[in-house]
Amino acid sequence: MKLLWAVSALLLSCWRADASAAGFTKSPLSQMKLIDDSAELHCEVIGNPIPEVQWWFVEGEEPNETFTQLFDGARDDRVQINATYIAHATSTIHLTSLTLDDSGTYECRASNDPDRNELKRTPKIKWIRSQANIIVIESPNIVADPQEVSNQTSAVLSCNLTESSLPIKGSHWLFEGKMIDDSVSSDASPYTVHRLDKITHSNSGKYECVFATEPEVKMAIEVKTLPHVVAYKHSEHGNENDKGVMVCVGHGHPLPTDWFWYKEEDGNSNAILNGTGERFEIKSTPNKTTLTISNLSIENDIGYYTCSATNELGTGSDKIHLRVRSRLAALWPFLGIVAEVIILVTIIFIYEKRRKPDEVNDDDDSGSAPLKSNSTANHKDKNVRQRNSN
Ligand SMILES: *[C@@H]1O[C@H](CO)[C@@H](O)[C@H](O)[C@H]1NC(C)=O
Ligand SMILES: *[C@@H]1O[C@H](CO)[C@@H](O)[C@H](O)[C@H]1NC(C)=O
Ligand SMILES: *[C@@H]1O[C@H](CO)[C@@H](O)[C@H](O)[C@H]1NC(C)=O
Ligand SMILES: *[C@@H]1O[C@H](CO)[C@@H](O)[C@H](O)[C@H]1NC(C)=O
Ligand SMILES: *[C@@H]1O[C@H](CO)[C@@H](O)[C@H](O)[C@H]1NC(C)=O
Ligand SMILES: *[C@@H]1O[C@H](CO)[C@@H](O)[C@H](O)[C@H]1NC(C)=O
Ligand SMILES: *[C@@H]1O[C@H](CO)[C@@H](O)[C@H](O)[C@H]1NC(C)=O
Repeated sequence: MKLLWAVSALLLSCWRADASAAGFTKSPLSQMKLIDDSAELHCEVIGNPIPEVQWWFVEGEEPNETFTQLFDGARDDRVQINATYIAHATSTIHLTSLTLDDSGTYECRASNDPDRNELKRTPKIKWIRSQANIIVIESPNIVADPQEVSNQTSAVLSCNLTESSLPIKGSHWLFEGKMIDDSVSSDASPYTVHRLDKITHSNSGKYECVFATEPEVKMAIEVKTLPHVVAYKHSEHGNENDKGVMVCVGHGHPLPTDWFWYKEEDGNSNAILNGTGERFEIKSTPNKTTLTISNLSIENDIGYYTCSATNELGTGSDKIHLRVRSRLAALWPFLGIVAEVIILVTIIFIYEKRRKPDEVNDDDDSGSAPLKSNSTANHKDKNVRQRNSN
């Protein structure tokens, strides 16, 4: 019995020796953020057993400060906590749609003491803490000029960062979220310009000026053009009674909101609606429209079709020439082959027919020269006889 106690005491002391207090390997970092932006604080802790990590919000000054624990889903679901407890503890708190009230001190607390959550007893090992500040500021004012570019062939975009005390380390421009390489500047100027010498559908879109401040501030200017519409093929072919398919794609910013198809008839453009005559089907996405005509007919469907796209600025269009081949036309190549085969077979047949009698006679004559002329004579006789019989 004494031995058992000794062994268990030894085991316990071994376990105690193995256990280690919690310690931070990564602490949260203070940051400044704009209203509506989001922030993230990260904390990593080692220890044995793996420590528990909590997040607290600290308000007020020492010694009158108050602590509020932050849970996943707190502050109307604007708080998200993501923790892992594998080998060591990691925890990330995400704060979204920041408001001025989110400014303050955030504390990452960790402990692996078995009694850490026991309220009555004072824990032997206290919670260890690491703090970071989040400061939320109002977005500085950026005056964009022009605020929007619409239907222009060229433009000069400019941004003026006014009433800001943030130090500026430089600026650059983005197009559709991608950095425009030659726009990067390290000037401390609160004013930046981007020139668009030629505006086409391919460089229309969302431009943003970005000032390298802490936090970064930016402003968007939209450059809008008419829809640019192109047919996949300007000349389409279809077979009578088959399906005819015509496709147009649209480019430019903003993308088309509506697509229309027309057919040119006697100088008029007649709108084709989805389901017209039950033969027309139109399928459209902002980028692309497809007109499918079932059971093509030579009388009704040959001609010029227009696809046209509309956005808030206006309309762009393109034309397609549809040709319909008769069913027979589709057969021509096949008929050609059949005719060729028939001619070949006939030629071979005739040739064989002409040769056969000679060969038979040759065999009968067993190679004697004088009789050969006779055989030709026989053959001629035969032909004469045949003609007479006709
Ligand atoms: C803390 O609160 C007490 C009583 O409310 C007050 O007298 C004291 O000035 C406060 N201390 C600080 C640092 O605000
Ligand atoms: C939480 O962590 C997991 C695993 O690391 C990750 O896949 C997930 O996207 C994280 N969630 C958030 C909101 O960051
Ligand atoms: C930027 O805005 C400020 C304040 O409105 C103005 O004084 C300044 O002239 C502007 N800068 C430029 C280059 O337009
Ligand atoms: C046309 O009708 C078809 C089937 O009725 C439908 O799938 C398609 O989305 C319609 N297209 C348009 C542009 O309304
Ligand atoms: C359609 O346009 C959008 C926006 O420009 C683009 O992201 C998308 O890749 C395009 N889709 C196709 C099929 O071209
Ligand atoms: C296709 O159209 C022709 C007349 O152009 C008609 O005779 C035929 O029945 C139609 N076929 C179908 C499947 O609708
Ligand atoms: C855009 O420009 C084109 C020609 O440059 C013109 O026909 C069209 O009316 C203009 N649209 C608007 C909305 O100004």
